[in-house]
Amino acid sequence: MALRGSSAFFDSDWTRTLVDPQAFAHEQRCLAYVWTFLGFAHDVAKDGDWFRTTLATRSVFVQRFGSELKGFENVCAHRFYPLRTKDKGNGPIVCGFHHWRYDHDGAAIGIPKCQENFGTVSRALGARLNPIEIATCGALVFGRFPAPVKRESLAEFLGPGFPIVAALSRSRSTPRTLSMPVAANWRLNLHISLDDYHTVALHPTTFGKSGHVRREDISYVRFGLHSAFLNTSKPDALAEMSAACADGSFRATHYCIFQILPNLIVALFRSDGEFFHCYVQQSVPMAHDRSVQRIRVHPAPFPADHAWPARLIRPLSDPIRNRLLPHYVRRVGREDNEACERLQAVAHQIERPPYLAALEERIGWFEQSYRELVAGGEEMLKEISARDSRKLSPPPSGPCGRGTG
Ligand code: FES
Ligand SMILES: [Fe+2]
Repeated sequence: MALRGSSAFFDSDWTRTLVDPQAFAHEQRCLAYVWTFLGFAHDVAKDGDWFRTTLATRSVFVQRFGSELKGFENVCAHRFYPLRTKDKGNGPIVCGFHHWRYDHDGAAIGIPKCQENFGTVSRALGARLNPIEIATCGALVFGRFPAPVKRESLAEFLGPGFPIVAALSRSRSTPRTLSMPVAANWRLNLHISLDDYHTVALHPTTFGKSGHVRREDISYVRFGLHSAFLNTSKPDALAEMSAACADGSFRATHYCIFQILPNLIVALFRSDGEFFHCYVQQSVPMAHDRSVQRIRVHPAPFPADHAWPARLIRPLSDPIRNRLLPHYVRRVGREDNEACERLQAVAHQIERPPYLAALEERIGWFEQSYRELVAGGEEMLKEISARDSRKLSPPPSGPCGRGTG
């Protein structure tokens, strides 16, 4: 199989955001307008529940108000104190710095001594939190920063992947979660997840020779900006899986992995004999040379047609599998992360696109989609700054003139 010319997919300076903090910050500003996985719906199941996370490196939180999920940038409108200072909790939005209180629309409705300090009542001040748009797919909550132009819904963004991600994300039992810091750029984490060529060299004991696949036996599928590897050569495997997930008839029979731009991975894998687990992983960007892998593993939520001996011992074997699996996931993850960290260490020496093997084809697709998303974000930023310059309004000041002392 011939080497793929990768210059059509890669910028020649594709490592700039890996080595230059300013280029990384610009990239993240652009990606803030893209639907991004934020967390799990079960963490905001009850009225008032909230979780804190990041969206393109900006601190945000998601909160349930009755039947609705709302999201806000985690920065107080008053003097920018973070409203949520823990990872999750339950309760009204009250800032810890001066006790400003906000409603479900992010409007400041309870400002202590407002008349005395600002010369008006709370609502009249018009202070509010920056909202973020929220949408769900199965058990996954996604968000993006609002933009002044019409954009695609989450269902449109995920296309045929929507029913698949929705089905795979649902968990019937308590999931196991892991968090692994990586001293490497988030895109290197994505690249290695899209690389089916490294398995034998990098995972000699965890996968060994069983990790080797032949291109003609598998399917690489591109859908919208995203892509998938399905361990079957059956034509239309993605469309069939999508339809079966949508109508509830899907059954797990082979490994598959879906890379959802910008940084989400959802996979279905054989954990032991006839048993399958689902895997949700996000490579969270922290800095140009740092990211965190957030991983959740849960038993596949599909009815299993196991033979009777497996069915019989399942109540005993499930807890053992659930206990052992995170160790295995962590070991494989560590092997991948070490490789990413070694690449990060020489990133400043990389001045051209790589050679891509047939089993690395999807890395090229990812880079192309990534460039498209960053370019889309740049357009959005231009549009926003043009609008802002047309209707520039100064921040409110108190009766004492500048600020309120
Ligand atoms: S910074 Fe939040 S109330 Fe003052
Ligand atoms: Fe790997």
